[in-house]
Amino acid sequence: MCDNTPRKINFGPGPAQLPIEVLHNVQKEFFSFDNCGSNVMELSHRSPAFSKIIDDAEKDIRELLSIPDTYAVLFLQGGATGQFSAIPMNLINLKPSQTADYLVTGYWSEKAAKEAEKYGKVNYVIPKQEKYHDVPEQTTWNLTDDASYFYYCANETIHGVEIHDVPVLPNKAQIVCDMSSNFLTRQVDVTKFAIIFASGQKNFGCSGIVLVIVRKDLIGNAMKSTPVNFDFKVQLSNNSMYNTPPTFSIYISNKMFDWSKRQGGIKALEKQSKIKSDLIYSAIDQSNRFYLSEINPSYRSRVNIPFRIAINGVPDEKLEKLFLEEALRLNMIELKGHRAVGGLRVSLYNGITIEETEKLAQLMRTFQTIHCVEAA
Ligand SMILES: Cc1ncc(COP(=O)(O)O)c(C=O)c1O
Repeated sequence: MCDNTPRKINFGPGPAQLPIEVLHNVQKEFFSFDNCGSNVMELSHRSPAFSKIIDDAEKDIRELLSIPDTYAVLFLQGGATGQFSAIPMNLINLKPSQTADYLVTGYWSEKAAKEAEKYGKVNYVIPKQEKYHDVPEQTTWNLTDDASYFYYCANETIHGVEIHDVPVLPNKAQIVCDMSSNFLTRQVDVTKFAIIFASGQKNFGCSGIVLVIVRKDLIGNAMKSTPVNFDFKVQLSNNSMYNTPPTFSIYISNKMFDWSKRQGGIKALEKQSKIKSDLIYSAIDQSNRFYLSEINPSYRSRVNIPFRIAINGVPDEKLEKLFLEEALRLNMIELKGHRAVGGLRVSLYNGITIEETEKLAQLMRTFQTIHCVEAA
């Protein structure tokens, strides 16, 4: 049963809002998927109907990102956090050094590096940053000659630091990338990576699923102690179904990949992402420092934008609280910044439309007009 509550605009960091047409489509199929008389949740994962869903999902993501046959596409459980362990377990043995290079540019890469320390040697490529506002020049990075792999997070969801170009490494290490929050928001040359992984709940569906794109020749090196579900070789040979997979999450991913294709594919999604983030950064940059973004502009995220509201350059929590209340009155939610950073944060995943972003940018301008004068 549906109630008549108007839908909120969810600018949160995830789980994110889904496109309304995807929700309608899911609703239509809720009691009977494809005339089979059951919801997808009620189907056997070994049934032909579900096999078609997972096969279609793989086909669509391969098409969206031009993923070559030399790469496996795995639909796994345990979230992106699970991959913080699975990646070292599967790759640390690639080189005798058993050392992995980690570029720590925010909360999530820091977590990944800490977890990897359990399984091998971790070399921190740059010194610990006091505030994650920038990425030191690559010429200063301390890389390991024979690293098993190089790890980075393409978009730090909490700190709003995005690395726009894939690093070109002099040691030619295998590159592993957490793309959880900017997956499908920009074009990517998959062949530059050993592994790309991303959780579903931001740009391609709901929680419960992590997509792992891994070059096939790297599979088969897992440590002996690797839990069977985290062993890429086992998952590949079982078509991501060594145990019961998160069938509903895979079904939603399939819907989202299909929706992404119908948007015009990755080029169109990247264009939308640029337009949306430009709207918010324009409101910030034209605010005469009423709104503050502290990130080096070269590393500003197009997807997660943390900012402060300030009087005379000093963040003002009272104004920030007022902004959240005003946003809520206009049906916009989840704009509070992460506790590690404070202030506000806008997340512009693919399910957020340009029109919705315009509403928020408009609110920012109106709010500034009212409160900047009051504060003066
Ligand atoms: C960049 C990034 N990596 C990893 C994670 C952890 O994802 P999960 O909660 O699916 O484990 C998140 C969650 O927000 C994230 O933003």
